[in-house]
Amino acid sequence: MSAVRTPVLAGNWKLFKTGSEGAEFVAALGRRLGRIQGVDVVVAPSFTALYQVAQVAVEHGIGVASQDVYWEEQGAFTGEVAPRMIKDTGAGWVIIGHSERRQFFGETNDGVARKVRAVLHAKLRPILCVGELEEQRVAGETEQVLKTQVEAGLSMVEATNMSSLALAYEPVWAIGTGRTATPQQAQEACAFIRELVVEKLGTNAAATVRILYGGSVKPDNAAELMSQDDIDGGLVGGASLEVESFAGIIEQSRATRT
Ligand code: 13P
Repeated sequence: MSAVRTPVLAGNWKLFKTGSEGAEFVAALGRRLGRIQGVDVVVAPSFTALYQVAQVAVEHGIGVASQDVYWEEQGAFTGEVAPRMIKDTGAGWVIIGHSERRQFFGETNDGVARKVRAVLHAKLRPILCVGELEEQRVAGETEQVLKTQVEAGLSMVEATNMSSLALAYEPVWAIGTGRTATPQQAQEACAFIRELVVEKLGTNAAATVRILYGGSVKPDNAAELMSQDDIDGGLVGGASLEVESFAGIIEQSRATRT
């Protein structure tokens, strides 16, 4: 992990935790961690829990993310949530293009690009997710998949936006499976993603952007993953649902920054 980039440890709660459960969680996490320094800690509850969780999170220096967004500011789009509505809850971040959205809800690279642009326009911070399926890795297509997803996701982004954006490399085969990518595999993919940012937006943008790894991150593998040069934090699913395991991951990651 680079000493110049503040790591981000984000917990993606997926379809778990109500507002009151989430608020209780961040209060307990805040007590457990004390004053958080040198790391951005973020939790991503469901839309309906954002406001309630953000109210408590702010007291503990914990950031809040939504798990998705729509790209329009307003209009006849039943069921959708606009960036300014997310901002109004007190959340500061937005996860975009998670593989579960891509796989189960028809998220496309074009939609991801529009969402990234809309979120930046609203002065929120996107966490743009990319990652290959197992069959794509086996077929040797990992780099091509990452290239397509990263180039599309960043197609409407300026170099100056990159300090407020994070990328998350989440190999789909490692999500919720307990099969973590090896630190070498994760580092290789994150370094490749950083190279893509160099090509598209230049070296300064690439040196600034935080690139996270996600996929079965646990307290006992966090330190090794987070100590890789091009890994600047983690996007954590299952292990972010318990205070002890999420706090353990945060502490392990912080310990690698010496
Ligand atoms: P797991 O940590 O449960 O594998 O989930 C990763 C993830 O999808 C985070 O967005």
